[in-house]
Amino acid sequence: MFISFEGTEGVGKTTLIRKLHDHFQNLGKNVVLTREPGGTPMAEQIRALLLAVNHDEAMSDDTELLLMYAARAQHLARVILPALAESKIVLCDRFADSSFAYQCAGRGLDRDKLNVLNASFVARIPDITFWLDAPIETGMLRARERGALDRFEQEKAAFFEKVRSGFAEIHQTHPERMKRLDATQTPEHVFQQALSHLQQI
Ligand code: TYD
Repeated sequence: MFISFEGTEGVGKTTLIRKLHDHFQNLGKNVVLTREPGGTPMAEQIRALLLAVNHDEAMSDDTELLLMYAARAQHLARVILPALAESKIVLCDRFADSSFAYQCAGRGLDRDKLNVLNASFVARIPDITFWLDAPIETGMLRARERGALDRFEQEKAAFFEKVRSGFAEIHQTHPERMKRLDATQTPEHVFQQALSHLQQI
């Protein structure tokens, strides 16, 4: 089973993923915890390039999109697909929905570009996706508390509102795959909600 986790900054994805990881391990399941952009040494190098704040050279939106997909191709080939072939449970912190929300809804990139990349390079989509949703201000505050802000975290609230509406659009078009979790609730409540969705599938 391939499970992805989505949402804007600081909504508690990491906490939920850790709880589910422990839960599956306690059940004796073979579970892989990974993230995007990143998840392999090479893809983590691409991640560093994507998140770095570079005042000398602004990254173009197309470059950003292509680097996300370069990292994703490597991650799929080296981690996700092999793990699924071995019947492991893959918990992935962000996946292709983030590219729609951030690069298309957020940056305003043409959806056709993304569709071509998905059709060409994404052989497998998650069986279920948890969208942790909370008002933007809550998350931005939490992200700031964590310390130095990366290139995405430095964006203004208006950008994250667009990203959030991108996730809402996916949720509307793919309600069977994407489940919305109210991230303003306690971590335990969010975890229980996720578990009940998993039990249903
Ligand atoms: P992440 O580590 O999940 O950040 P955070 O923990 O702050 O939520 O992801 C890093 C950043 O990469 C995040 O700001 C979202 C962005 N991103 C995209 O813009 N497109 C993508 O396809 C992915 C996977 C991530």
